[in-house]
Amino acid sequence: MRRFYLRTMGCQMNDHDSEVITGLLLSLGYKPTDNLEDADLILYNTCCVRENPERKVYGHISSFRELKEKNPELIIGICGCMTQQKNELKKILKRLPHVDLIFGTHNIHRLPELLQRATNGEKVVEIWDEAEYSEGQDFRDSLPVERKDRLKAFVNIIYGCTNFCTYCIVPYVRGKEHSRLPEKIIEDVHSLVNDGYKEITLLGQNVNAYGKDLSKGVSFSNLLRKLDKINGLERIRFMTSHPKDMGDDLIEAMADLGKLCEHLHLPVQAGGSSLLKRMNRGYTRAKYIDLVSKIKSAIPDISLTTDLIVGFPGETEEDFEETLSLVKEVEFDSAFTFIYSPREGTPAAKFSNQIPEEVKKERIYKLIELQNNISEKKMKSLVGTSQEVLVEGMSEDGVVGRTRTNRQVYLDGTKDLIGQVFKAEITEAGTWTLRGRLI
Ligand code: SAH
Ligand code: SF4
Ligand code: F3S
Repeated sequence: MRRFYLRTMGCQMNDHDSEVITGLLLSLGYKPTDNLEDADLILYNTCCVRENPERKVYGHISSFRELKEKNPELIIGICGCMTQQKNELKKILKRLPHVDLIFGTHNIHRLPELLQRATNGEKVVEIWDEAEYSEGQDFRDSLPVERKDRLKAFVNIIYGCTNFCTYCIVPYVRGKEHSRLPEKIIEDVHSLVNDGYKEITLLGQNVNAYGKDLSKGVSFSNLLRKLDKINGLERIRFMTSHPKDMGDDLIEAMADLGKLCEHLHLPVQAGGSSLLKRMNRGYTRAKYIDLVSKIKSAIPDISLTTDLIVGFPGETEEDFEETLSLVKEVEFDSAFTFIYSPREGTPAAKFSNQIPEEVKKERIYKLIELQNNISEKKMKSLVGTSQEVLVEGMSEDGVVGRTRTNRQVYLDGTKDLIGQVFKAEITEAGTWTLRGRLI
């Protein structure tokens, strides 16, 4: 029996691609392993949004040379976003000559043939610049998927990104925005519900641009309204939304629809309008703040989360202060904070005034401290409230689930509660998790 070791880096898009890759490998008779020494195939699904994960890939895969010396039949593969960048691909070929199989993000469905060729001793490199899609066509539609979870499932609704924020590599590696047809998505969700799934997360780099590239008029809020009618489905989430595409129709849908959860991940990136402009984000500070107040008044118990970048080229002390003041004003429930990482091929990598590492670090510590205090305060404010919890699994001394706002809650209880929705009173709050009592 052949075994594979699959390591996934990056965002949910990659997590879900790995579920498809796993499905394909199982259908070929491979079994998964967590032990590198046992593997006949080691595959890294890579991310290139920042430099750190890239470095890891070079470090890890260099060290697999020894494994290959011990087992010459071992196939080492790299896929995912790093391979889609021409210069990175050259670097991979030069620095990691013992890699046997390289494929991109647009040709995952070709894995069975590519793997066969690699097994026959060929060095296989196949990257497509763009998937050769016609409207509504999707190579992944009929592929097997091996999902990690039995209650919650990812469903792709839109691939790629056409926003070209000046710091970001994603549009270059994931291609143009390409929406799946609504009927295909609805069919997927029906079949997930038939298989016992309770929650779906609609995926895309920019989910609220859904439908803009389709000729028949369908919008993201239309799609949500249709999905909300599916019997047996408990919860709908989505990720990630762009502030510039956050229309009133979507806010209304979030306020109206019972299954749509009260959580919105709305990356702001920076607090000052001049930075936002140089990032090419398509909104100003004032517009973002207006948008947030509209959302909060339509959906009062919304949990708002965000992404923030510090140390963008030319970021002055005043710019950074504007980011801090926006964070204070909006009071996000939580935030992913990143140090700007120059990405070759993006405009910002060539901007003058790159910020020294020490300054970037100092700024991120300040920002994290501020946000942690806010996160903690928001969690504490939930003590004594009643929350709807979907129980997802076992914990050390009971069960664990999530609120509609995507907060983790520990409860007393036994296995039979898994998959069910309960009301719980929150009794304790830490910075990241809650404890509650079933009502
Ligand atoms: N499509 C999503 C997320 C894309 S990548 C969106 O637009 O919100 C996830 C996050 O990584 C981004 O929101 C951004 O905060 C961060 N990011 C992207 N490029 C980066 C870079 N070059 N350096 C540091 N952080 C970056
Ligand atoms: Fe990157 Fe901007 Fe697209 Fe998000 S919207 S993936 S940050 S280019
Ligand atoms: Fe990384 Fe690719 Fe996602 S670059 S963030 S894995 S789309």
